[in-house]
Amino acid sequence: MSGKIIAVGNLKGGTGKSTVAINLACALRNGGKATVAVVDADGQGTASDWGAKGQLGLTVHALPFEETQGTGHGASHANGVESGGTANWGAEVDRLKADHDFVVIDLPPQLSDAILNALVAANLFVVPVTASGADLKATTKAIELLQRARALRDDGRPACLLVPSRVDRRTAAGKEIEAVLHDFGEPVAPAIGQRTAHVDAFTAGEWVGSYAPRSAAHGEIEVLAAIVKRVK
Ligand SMILES: Nc1ncnc2c1ncn2[C@@H]1O[C@H](COP(=O)(O)OP(=O)(O)O)[C@@H](O)[C@H]1O
Ligand SMILES: [Mg+2]
Repeated sequence: MSGKIIAVGNLKGGTGKSTVAINLACALRNGGKATVAVVDADGQGTASDWGAKGQLGLTVHALPFEETQGTGHGASHANGVESGGTANWGAEVDRLKADHDFVVIDLPPQLSDAILNALVAANLFVVPVTASGADLKATTKAIELLQRARALRDDGRPACLLVPSRVDRRTAAGKEIEAVLHDFGEPVAPAIGQRTAHVDAFTAGEWVGSYAPRSAAHGEIEVLAAIVKRVK
């Protein structure tokens, strides 16, 4: 088996990267029909904390860039989270890719060679963007990084999907976010709304599909997962 690598990132915190990464990963499992691993590359450890409650049905591998690029240290297991450094981040992701259908990487909000390397390895770069002007600036830089990654390959990959995130349609910016994102020239996914079910699911250590299966929040994540599955 050789799975697809889905890298979730943007160069700003709070855009919904970890929320999209965890919920997308859980939706891609398709009730256990597919195997999915999450890699938490962000030293903040949001995805790892989420997985630590053991409620996600998948393993979150804590492989923060800062710690994993130097010397390795031993691995440990704790309730849904596998942590431990490795001298070679890429080799660890390759290993996960070899025995999962999808590897979803929650990237840290930083401009680094480590991110560039992750994008070069990825099939798809998922970029959550909120309607704030600061996000749009960060997204411009994220797209530049994407273009650098594509220049290092000869197949036009990775694909990219801009995801309007935490969208509140009552605000002017929330009403026009799709139009603004289309100007980046990359595909734009249907929006993920600002919904309390996402906050409450995180608090419970669950994803929205188990915490609130009939919610709009879950419906939007399933739509996103269906689009991601179609990417080659
Ligand atoms: N669609 C959403 N609806 C409501 N709250 C959200 C949504 N997405 C993220 N949040 C909340 O916003 C905060 C930041 O989200 P997070 O996914 O951790 O962002 P990032 O990983 O980009 O820093 C968290 O408190 C999270 O629960
Ligand atoms: Mg995060």
